[in-house]
Amino acid sequence: RMATDNKLRHVTSMLELPSGAGKFSALHAVILGEALASEENDLIFPSDDFARQAHVSSPQQYLEMYKRSVEDPAGFWSDIASQFYWKKKWDQPACSENFDFRKGNISIQWFKGGLTNICYNCLDRNIESGNADKIAIYWEGNDPGLEDSLTYSQLLDRVCQLSNYLKDVGVKKGDAVVIYLPMLMELPIAMLACARIGAVHSVVFAGFSSESLAQRIVDCKPKVVITCNAVKRGAKAIHLKDIVDAALAESAKNGISVDVCLTYENENAMKREGTKWQEGRDVWWQDFVPKYPTTCEVEWVDAEDPLFLLYTSGSTGKPKGVLHTTGGYMVYSATTFKYAFDYKPSDVYWCTADCGWITGHSYVTYGPMLNGASVVVFEGTPTYPDAGRCWDIVDKFKVTIFYTAPTLVRSLMRESDKFVTRYSRKSLRVLGSVGEPINPSAWRWFFNVVGDSRCPISDTWWQTETGGFMITPLPGAWPQKPGSATFPFFGVQPVIVDEKGVEIEGECSGYLCLKSSWPGAFRTLYGDHERYETTYFKPFAGYYFTGDGCSRDKDGYHWLTGRVDDVINVSGHRIGTAEVESALVSHPKCAEAAVVGVEHEVKGQGIYAFVTLVEGEPYSEELRKSLILTVRKQIGAFAAPDKIHWAPGLPKTRSGKIMRRILRKIASKQLDELGDTSTLAEPHVVEQLIELADC
Ligand code: WTA
Repeated sequence: RMATDNKLRHVTSMLELPSGAGKFSALHAVILGEALASEENDLIFPSDDFARQAHVSSPQQYLEMYKRSVEDPAGFWSDIASQFYWKKKWDQPACSENFDFRKGNISIQWFKGGLTNICYNCLDRNIESGNADKIAIYWEGNDPGLEDSLTYSQLLDRVCQLSNYLKDVGVKKGDAVVIYLPMLMELPIAMLACARIGAVHSVVFAGFSSESLAQRIVDCKPKVVITCNAVKRGAKAIHLKDIVDAALAESAKNGISVDVCLTYENENAMKREGTKWQEGRDVWWQDFVPKYPTTCEVEWVDAEDPLFLLYTSGSTGKPKGVLHTTGGYMVYSATTFKYAFDYKPSDVYWCTADCGWITGHSYVTYGPMLNGASVVVFEGTPTYPDAGRCWDIVDKFKVTIFYTAPTLVRSLMRESDKFVTRYSRKSLRVLGSVGEPINPSAWRWFFNVVGDSRCPISDTWWQTETGGFMITPLPGAWPQKPGSATFPFFGVQPVIVDEKGVEIEGECSGYLCLKSSWPGAFRTLYGDHERYETTYFKPFAGYYFTGDGCSRDKDGYHWLTGRVDDVINVSGHRIGTAEVESALVSHPKCAEAAVVGVEHEVKGQGIYAFVTLVEGEPYSEELRKSLILTVRKQIGAFAAPDKIHWAPGLPKTRSGKIMRRILRKIASKQLDELGDTSTLAEPHVVEQLIELADC
């Protein structure tokens, strides 16, 4: 046990801690050897062997680094940034920010004036330092037995060919490129190729519908859309190109026409024959891209030039284009990856997320590749052909770091442990969790069964907006508590505030905010800086508001409790209730809809929709299906409601506001907790709803 390590003890008394460091009382107890695990205080210590070899191997090492990171952020991050390649160093203060709207517009800048390129830092820099022949990507297809790989130098060749092609068709620095691809190697290749020439990629998860894709295309007006003809998910082939065609037709109606639709022929799913084709616009990747040279000069960009846009859900129907810039994001994604997973060059790393989400941006592509890691890219679904697929892949590639979402852990947990134990998994040394709170029982199963009680779990709390990890264990540094994301990463100052925006100290719960910027922070919402300020900086003056609830326990550990706004988190995917509602009301037979999140055993949260039909329309199973289909078509299958609850009326205040608090209680069957219903315009609708619960 670290706790008994005497060497650690005397250092603490000498350590001067940053203000607010009282929050870290558990870490002091660990240093002093007083941290004791008990039933209420379930502390799980890293093994001595693990801690000894870790980048950060003790609480006081963390506290020293953390102290510097918040007292001198510019100095702390400049030292780290200097390890990357800069064509020209920044000539202005490393960081300048305004986090307080009362003092003017919100702005965040890191390393302004510095010239760099993230693709160069991912590929060329690693190749020059001797990693040319190291595997960059191990690719595993949907069907077992289908695999491929690329070394760093092969990856660079492919990226350069695509960069050259894009330049040739007129893509310039600052132009947007939409990428709608499944987890083929071509997905990270396309991201890196855009970054190399200074183009701004906007990856759209290939599970989004044509309507959602069109909405994003109309918003960012790309010159080129990159896709493939089809993809296999489990036993089913999905024709992605048809979805893109429909989206492009829809965008054209809105006045946005795209010059080129570059289509990769994904032969494993479907041959190119039979693919619908628009001459002049559609181009087969394989017919052109491989003909281009395998070298391509880098476009040096300012640290504050945009790197990518990624749309995410908010509390209104319109998705928000989260904009990340180059320099700060590069430094932050790389550094968080290195420390939170205790990454070493000998590791083989696998993150099950799709590049269509932020996790795939920061922790499939950029973070790992900036560290020169070997990354597994998996096209398929983790339960196909059976629930053992993940561990089969882990054994095959000797995966050492495995990063996934609680929803997958919970779904595998329901199956027999034999699916896990029939594989060795002895290569594993660190596990990771992301996307939603991981409940303690899932945490324990992950730790005990998957990790054989040997591998620390990094439960990483962060958001599309934050670019990288914010609250996360450093796996060798301190004991974990199952279900807690533990302590802030370097430079991150989480605060918990009450409704009035007043910081609460000590053991408490409230709204999670962040004080002052970190390099990976998003800089704006594309084309709507005002919405950026209103959504994130105005709710609590002087802070960035995360939208999450959080409590801090007596030892200073953070426990994320879920969204406090109108966003629900289904299998780790963010979905705005307003988006689902607007899809439902677009159905000709739906008059009104109200959507709430409800606890779901596997998905974390399920989507529960109250639907009022147009006058005289009878309830029917067929109509229920057709409503669900409308949502699948408009947003994507992952947003399909789990339950449609017929509602002759919705509980509203006299001013017409839907009382979601009451709907949430009805949805979760907590009928004795409905609270005060006297302010409702029509109190009887509550009884009607209760009666119809099981219809
Ligand atoms: C939730 C995903 C608890 C949270 C990286 C956040 C989490 C939202 C965790 C962001 C975690 C993410 N524990 N909750 N470890 N990680 N969340 O933008 O509600 O898709 O606000 O980014 O997911 O979702 P997003």
